[in-house]
Amino acid sequence: MTVSILVAGGAGYIGSHVCKALAAAGYQPVTLDNLTTGRRDFVKFGPLVEASVADGEVVAATVARYGIQAVIDLAGSIEVAESVKDPLKYYENNFAVKIPFLRALHMAGVKAVVFSSTAAVYGEPVAVPIAESHPLLPKNPYGQSKLAYEHLLRDFHAAGGPSWMALRYFNAAGASFDGDIGECHEPESHLLPLACMAQLGTGPALSIFGNDYPTPDKTAVRDYIHVLDLASAHVLAVEALLKGAASGSYNLGNGIGTSIGEVLAAFERLGLPVPHSFKPRRAGDSSQLVADSAAAKKALGWQPAYADIELIIRSAHQWHLSQLQAKASAV
Ligand SMILES: NC(=O)c1ccc[n+]([C@@H]2O[C@H](COP(=O)([O-])OP(=O)(O)OC[C@H]3O[C@@H](n4cnc5c(N)ncnc54)[C@H](O)[C@@H]3O)[C@@H](O)[C@H]2O)c1
Repeated sequence: MTVSILVAGGAGYIGSHVCKALAAAGYQPVTLDNLTTGRRDFVKFGPLVEASVADGEVVAATVARYGIQAVIDLAGSIEVAESVKDPLKYYENNFAVKIPFLRALHMAGVKAVVFSSTAAVYGEPVAVPIAESHPLLPKNPYGQSKLAYEHLLRDFHAAGGPSWMALRYFNAAGASFDGDIGECHEPESHLLPLACMAQLGTGPALSIFGNDYPTPDKTAVRDYIHVLDLASAHVLAVEALLKGAASGSYNLGNGIGTSIGEVLAAFERLGLPVPHSFKPRRAGDSSQLVADSAAAKKALGWQPAYADIELIIRSAHQWHLSQLQAKASAV
């Protein structure tokens, strides 16, 4: 019998890639999504239940209807800068709504939860690369709300709740190589999609926030991880928990620090120059975030397959180009 996995936030960028990977591995992904930022047309690998995770009745009915065995929870609000301006939204949607969600899952007998956490739980690094033992000092309400949910999962598990894994992603990037799903946020704030849109002329020139960071070329350094590599880690994490693995938090990154300047140079090498300008730093941004993912590799047997930044950029750009072409042919 096919094992069904509930994917909260499965209509989003990373969630839809997770659903695709689950389906390819033989599972039935059941998306639970309120479509606030997700896209209905990204839900193509299993059924969609359109609701908030806060709706305990729908959650319980969905678990019963599909015989859900485990949950991957990617639902949430994701903009660091917005979280600084509107912290209530972030504590509400990344933390408060998870209380009725976890209660409903537990009552319905769900034994395992994998959760999308973030490198933002570390704040400004005191050591790079960042291991899970690094101090947890988020610089913004987004990171705080994610860390609060990790603590909720830990404390609830200690009291008999589901086992859990928090996967702390560094910078998710890239798109499916077959071009069926890709990165699209509304409003967009992520570097690669903004750079692709600037390059294609479908968005304004790229704004680079900060060229006075203590990094070699003074722009912020991030660890870009292909969304397909993130997706494969989720499948492994669910399988590990269902086999009785211990709960815990794991970094997911390539361990390669790439500055914004280096990302733009890679676009150039691919023949895709990106118009850009420099702006002051944004509140809440760290200077460099680079992962030590040794623990995830050991615990999950995970290995990223698409670490090359040019490969990541090419897949992202291809998807944005296909969106543009689809729009043009629809006119
Ligand atoms: N994109 C990154 O680089 C990155 C990095 C670290 C962590 N994350 C985390 O990964 C997760 C997915 O990010 P993404 O980039 O795919 O964002 P996304 O906005 O594309 O996906 C989030 C999805 O959650 C849904 N959602 C939001 N609130 C909901 C609610 N209350 N109930 C049901 N559905 C809800 C949205 O409709 C959307 O489909 C988020 O939790 C984010 O914090 C992302």
